[in-house]
Amino acid sequence: MKEKIEFLKDEINNLVVATAEELEAMRIKYLSKKGEITALFTDFKNVPNDDKRSVGQLLNELKDLAQQRYNILKESFSSKGKTDTDLDLTRTADPISVGTRHPLSIVKSEIIDIFSRIGFVVAEGPEIEDDWNVFGALNFPPEHPARDMQDTFFIEKSPDVLLRTHTSSVQTRTMTKHQPPIRVLCPGRVYRNEAISYRAHCFFHQVEGLYIDKNVSFADLKQVLLYFAKEMFGADTHIRLRPSYFPFTEPSAEMDISCNLCGGQGCPFCKYTGWVEILGCGMVDTNVLKNCGIDPEIYSGYAFGLGVERITNLKFQAKDLRMFSENDVRFLEQFRTI
Ligand code: PHE
Repeated sequence: MKEKIEFLKDEINNLVVATAEELEAMRIKYLSKKGEITALFTDFKNVPNDDKRSVGQLLNELKDLAQQRYNILKESFSSKGKTDTDLDLTRTADPISVGTRHPLSIVKSEIIDIFSRIGFVVAEGPEIEDDWNVFGALNFPPEHPARDMQDTFFIEKSPDVLLRTHTSSVQTRTMTKHQPPIRVLCPGRVYRNEAISYRAHCFFHQVEGLYIDKNVSFADLKQVLLYFAKEMFGADTHIRLRPSYFPFTEPSAEMDISCNLCGGQGCPFCKYTGWVEILGCGMVDTNVLKNCGIDPEIYSGYAFGLGVERITNLKFQAKDLRMFSENDVRFLEQFRTI
């Protein structure tokens, strides 16, 4: 009997169980009423009296060992969480909800994509700026009424720290750092002190472009903008340029595209004019070039700036600008397939 006990001891010590069924089989084999250890206890009466004491001790040890092993294995199963058999593999999985790109990012990326095909590279700069990069270098003299065009959020008054009102500040920084040729696109968030309504917000997004080289002309500007309008709104799109004023460009213009909703026929969206304004542009003022260390005798260039919200509205007809910053999934989800 001693050999049998030793044999079972070894077997139990080396036992590996992988599933709940195997664990139950172990319990039945060793610990149940019909198990091997119970059988040994039944046989115990046949052990010679002299050996009863030592065999009885071994037998008890074996029983304790089996019980302990069983408890440990059971514990390791429950701490692993559910065993395989507790999982209902036929149950349908919870749907994974996939996010969507924000409409403004979709449109911003498309604008960048269109201009990068003709050699523009992205330049970025800080949203918290100083007076020089936002106004001074761009030909806004301290007392010039043109400054009133921008309702600015000042963080500190002197020295001036402010939230940029346009991404032209990135153009200033680029021109100050690099000599031409320069061909950059400046996307980013800008801030103006506007009352928030369905058509105005205190922050919005711009993409501005700047091209400086030898012999750059207004004709180049017009051609690039026509290319952009057709790529963005379709090959049938027409453009028109109206004279305008910006302190940093001379001459300056605003560009309209033929209304992409009515095809130029006239509709409520274009106020029955057939045209919608999409951007401001012009030839970079010689004072701006000088302020940034570029010689206007050698170089000339153009700049343009467009509002991403405006282009997005034209593409998707969002009725209220505020929807872009409310994070309402019912609105954002609609851009899932784009
Ligand atoms: N910076 C101008 C604005 O914010 C846009 C603009 C850029 C106009 C470049 C002309 C040239 O309104």
